[in-house]
Amino acid sequence: MKRKIITLLALSTTLALSAQIKLEAGNIDDIIAAMTLKEKVYFVLGVGDEGVWRHYKTKPALILRGQACATYGIPRLGIPNTVLTDGPAGLRIDTIQTGVNHRTYCTAFPTATALASTWNKELVYQVGDAIGEETFRYGSDMLLGPAMNIQRNPLTGRNFEYYSEDPYISGMMAASMVNGIQKWNVGACIKHFAANNIETNRRTINAVISQRALREIYLRGFQIAIEQSNPWMIMTSYNKINGYYTAENKVLLQDIVRKEWKYDGLFVSDWVSGEDFVAQMRAGNELLMPGNYQAELFMKAIKNGTLDEKTLDKNIKNILKYIIKTSTFKNLHRDYQPDLDKHADVSRQAAEEAMVLLQNKDNTLPLRNTKSYALFGKSSYNFIAGGTGSGRVNYRHATSITEGLENMHAKVLQNLSSFYQYYIDSVRSNTTPTLKIPTKNLVDFAPEPVLPQSYINDAAQKADIAIITLGRNAGELWDREAKDYYYLSNTETTLLKRVCDTFHALNKKVVVVLNIGGPIDVASWRHMPDAILLAWQTGQEGGHALANILSGKVNPSGKLAVSFPVKYSDVPSANSFPGVPAENPVNAFYEEGIYVGYRYYQTFNVKTAYEFGYGLSYTDFSYSPLKISNGKFKDKLTVSVTVTNTGKISGKEVVQLYLKAPVTTVEKPFQELKRYAKTQLLKSGESETIEFTVNPMDLASFWTGKSQWIAEKGMYEIRIGASSEDIRSKAIFELDNTIVVSEVNDVLYPNIKLHELSTHGIIKGPKTNDIILGDSDYE
Ligand code: BGC
Repeated sequence: MKRKIITLLALSTTLALSAQIKLEAGNIDDIIAAMTLKEKVYFVLGVGDEGVWRHYKTKPALILRGQACATYGIPRLGIPNTVLTDGPAGLRIDTIQTGVNHRTYCTAFPTATALASTWNKELVYQVGDAIGEETFRYGSDMLLGPAMNIQRNPLTGRNFEYYSEDPYISGMMAASMVNGIQKWNVGACIKHFAANNIETNRRTINAVISQRALREIYLRGFQIAIEQSNPWMIMTSYNKINGYYTAENKVLLQDIVRKEWKYDGLFVSDWVSGEDFVAQMRAGNELLMPGNYQAELFMKAIKNGTLDEKTLDKNIKNILKYIIKTSTFKNLHRDYQPDLDKHADVSRQAAEEAMVLLQNKDNTLPLRNTKSYALFGKSSYNFIAGGTGSGRVNYRHATSITEGLENMHAKVLQNLSSFYQYYIDSVRSNTTPTLKIPTKNLVDFAPEPVLPQSYINDAAQKADIAIITLGRNAGELWDREAKDYYYLSNTETTLLKRVCDTFHALNKKVVVVLNIGGPIDVASWRHMPDAILLAWQTGQEGGHALANILSGKVNPSGKLAVSFPVKYSDVPSANSFPGVPAENPVNAFYEEGIYVGYRYYQTFNVKTAYEFGYGLSYTDFSYSPLKISNGKFKDKLTVSVTVTNTGKISGKEVVQLYLKAPVTTVEKPFQELKRYAKTQLLKSGESETIEFTVNPMDLASFWTGKSQWIAEKGMYEIRIGASSEDIRSKAIFELDNTIVVSEVNDVLYPNIKLHELSTHGIIKGPKTNDIILGDSDYE
């Protein structure tokens, strides 16, 4: 009885105290002190989402329809709910909002893979700026993007959401995006931290990765993005790394991200991730989403001593620091009127710079004197703007290629159009949407219809040119299969062959457009068409952008940020993807180690169909011999090169700086991308000088035994290229003394013996799935 009275007294004092106190920048500790335990517990959890609500019968706070979630509000302490919304290629909210009397459409921008192909940091910043504006004006506080995992294997369902196979370009692109978004008093959230490269069993899969591959490939991009942009939030991933869920791994979050990388933002879990929520709290995964079903568990854990209230307080402090930064807390006016027309322009420009011209025999493109077009393939009429899942965007309208061409007053053959439209309508009306495939995307996943030869004969008579669009889509929750995704179906190959034969017989050209989210096979069929234009999934303006490139109004300037292999089995992770056992993967062995993408193809002399950094233009560029500030490396070095447009029309060039390091103590990839830049639009004859600075970290590799980043003494080669294989100028410099650039925590060992690829051959050892216990870095 006595204890009850004391508790009541304490509670009433807390409430009385807090009656006056409202959250402001200087009083976070007082606010925490004024919270009841129950409030604390709810505060580290999101407000739940509809799925959770149905299950647990609690009502989520819905602030924006289509929100991913909201943070818990405590009005008596002046703490509002703040809103978190997806996703990487544009804001994802519903198009109908309470109290708003117009549709709240958002702009669909090119997917991350496409954006990386622009190699244009300023342009990606502008995309971020536009997404930030929509996030702000539509009343959200946090954009759950950019996503920035490494594209390790072409079959990964979420590749389209990710930038590249290379950590440097991934990190730099993500940073530009974050800086653009955060300009608007809203936050960006880089995700999914880390090594989330597999969708199969994504909530449990254990990625077994060497320390070096983690440091140099899978963590590095995140590290760069944090250094260059300081995102408000980091989302931990679903998977485990070396035996531990990322969301529960204190070593990863605290020792690496907080201490080594000096990150002071907020960690949020991915939606319903991990198994041990108390461990997530203790690891400093401060906010659990979508949350609130763990409340009872936390109350019990505090009572039985397995969770300390101080841990909650620590996590709450960081959530409050975030709340204070938000536009909702600052009560900034949101007008629900973003400039969608202006953003459509940004989206179109980004799409134009993202498209990569892969093949252009006899200068087929740009098209001259072309009046009538025969458009083949369902994707010519149903352009795939982006992938499925949380990364999709509710846009007003996405232009098809047909529309893009018609908009330029080009004539599109009507009987072909009717054939495909009939097919598209029948797919839409006959198929029941599944959880994985939303209605909007049904056609993307339907097989290519069989087109009778008579249509092709007729089209070849009437049209000046054939365009065949091959489309592919994918999304979160599942990975694709090589046989029905990477390779063309028989129907597609037959279509290609028949169209090429029929049109070529009449001396007419064939262009293939690839409307895809990541690499597919090109090597087996590229001899057939005259030109191949990689259009990617370039958002709602893809059709306009494509028409502008085909017509020559815009000169293509995109280059690949991911290699296109000759065949799927050439991919270094082909044998180990998605994991073992094959029927229900538990572990994924990253046996290729640091040799991901071009690092593998070039080091092991495996030819690609199109290499990393590749892309054609309608003009030509020459490179001057590069100038290097010093033949000896001290603490930095500058490199400059002048690029001249030697062709007849204006264009932009992507200049790439690769570094080839000496192989002395540790093995090294053949070369690595260290810097890049895109020129301005250069007129015929015009030049631009590009200058790069190279730092000690650019020379360094991660040395596992020492747990240090070391730049080893020796001769290094700077290689300036128009692609990773088209090196235009080289210079050697020397590092006299080995530099230990930094020493980091010796953590995150593989929990299972890993047979890692090495230039000395695969390191042999007993193949075992036994867990090596006793890695004592974890609590
Ligand atoms: C996805 C995240 C997304 C979240 C909220 C999760 O399933 O993995 O990328 O931000 O859902 O929609």
